[in-house]
Amino acid sequence: MSEQKCEIGLIGLGTMGHNLVMNMADHGFAVAGYNRDPSRVDALLAAAEGRDIRGAKSFDVFVELLRDPCAIMMLVPAGKPVDGVIEQLLPLLKPGAVLIDGGNSYFQDTERRIKELAEKGIHFIGMGVSGGAEGARYGPSLMPGGPAEAYERVRPVFEAIAAKVHGEPCITYLGSGPAGHYVKMVHNGIEYGLMQLLAESYDLMKRGLGLSNDELHTIYQEWNEGELNAFLVEITADIFTREDELSGGRLVDQILDAARQKGTGKWTSEEALKLGVPTPSIDVAVTGRYLSALKEERVAASQVLPRPAAFDGDRETAVGQLRQATYVAMIVTYAQGLALLREASQTYGYSLDLEGVARIWRGGCIIRAAMLEEFRRAYLARPELPNLLLDPDLAMAMREREGDLRATVQRAAGLAIPAPGFMAALAYLDSYRSERLPANLIQAQRDYFGAHTYERVDREGTFHTEWGAMSAVG
Ligand code: 6PG
Repeated sequence: MSEQKCEIGLIGLGTMGHNLVMNMADHGFAVAGYNRDPSRVDALLAAAEGRDIRGAKSFDVFVELLRDPCAIMMLVPAGKPVDGVIEQLLPLLKPGAVLIDGGNSYFQDTERRIKELAEKGIHFIGMGVSGGAEGARYGPSLMPGGPAEAYERVRPVFEAIAAKVHGEPCITYLGSGPAGHYVKMVHNGIEYGLMQLLAESYDLMKRGLGLSNDELHTIYQEWNEGELNAFLVEITADIFTREDELSGGRLVDQILDAARQKGTGKWTSEEALKLGVPTPSIDVAVTGRYLSALKEERVAASQVLPRPAAFDGDRETAVGQLRQATYVAMIVTYAQGLALLREASQTYGYSLDLEGVARIWRGGCIIRAAMLEEFRRAYLARPELPNLLLDPDLAMAMREREGDLRATVQRAAGLAIPAPGFMAALAYLDSYRSERLPANLIQAQRDYFGAHTYERVDREGTFHTEWGAMSAVG
């Protein structure tokens, strides 16, 4: 084994950290691992099998294993644990050291850490890591942001371990400050939106159309073979075949219908509200999880508010329309998330390149999907595109299928199957393409009750009307 110092070190040897170390070592890098619980260090060394992996059970031994300027990646839970590790490491680090936070940290925490550490000469990179355990081991999508010169120190390692699509690594330097964690937050918001759509499609087909788990498996598998090819569609198809060892039936039917969340979807919605960017497909996915968690209340309500309808149409037509509706609603969900990134980039000065974002989301991450190739093409053609729906090819794809989305929403409403994701996508589409919206009435109402003034379509300026007096005359 080489006596050279390690290229990089990892703190936090849970499944993700352990797998990232193995991935780095497989790409020929000498890697050091540390974990608070020493048994995880032993487990890593036991798995090393000839790879250049070294373990440390204290921070000083760990830092000693690393070459200068040292590069350390943390994979510890977001929040206080990140600050705790930084505090312990700091006395051991020399100026020029590069610290990378690979967790789902809140971007404002990352911004604070970048500033605090820069004062001490330490570079801090906030890097979104997506793809779960499998991605970490064989190729994640990586979303780094922070000081550009520090990224150069670690670029060779991360480009080597990232997922590859047509030979291109699913990593790019995204921008200064917390740009990396911001992009990962929005990635997760889109993830919530897509999962909500797939859950609604399942509900429509199972409860609405009465399809079996085997039929659902086959349908999602077919979807995944076409333009809906996506990691989340693929795993959805798989889920329906898993037997339950305890009940003998299918596992999916035994899982409690109350979705949990760690907060990244909510952060995305909060940010969108703060920046004034409409992201209804993400918002309904977050509230959909809250509604699902009201299990006891829902059980009680189902007694007093029984579901009124039953399906008596053609199942094949309904499933075909649902497939097209899912495609359209997914595009709308990505479009909202990417529009938020565009606005955030301008507001916070991240200089995000959305073509690059679409490129690194094509592989490795949870929201990877064939349609990202289309989005990449759209941004290559028009880097300043305000919204994906304005791309002529995507607009054409939407126009060809919007009837199916409309039919799906009507069917869901008729069957009393909740479909807030599909409904939000349709309402967004119909709002976004409306040359004229009824906001003139809202302006009139505001001016009526609060003298908030309004603008006119036919001349410049700000106007106010004494509405009450006019009404009294009329
Ligand atoms: C990823 C995932 C990952 C995690 C989610 C789960 O990109 O690999 O997004 O980060 O699975 O954070 O989020 P919730 O617990 O909020 O559903």
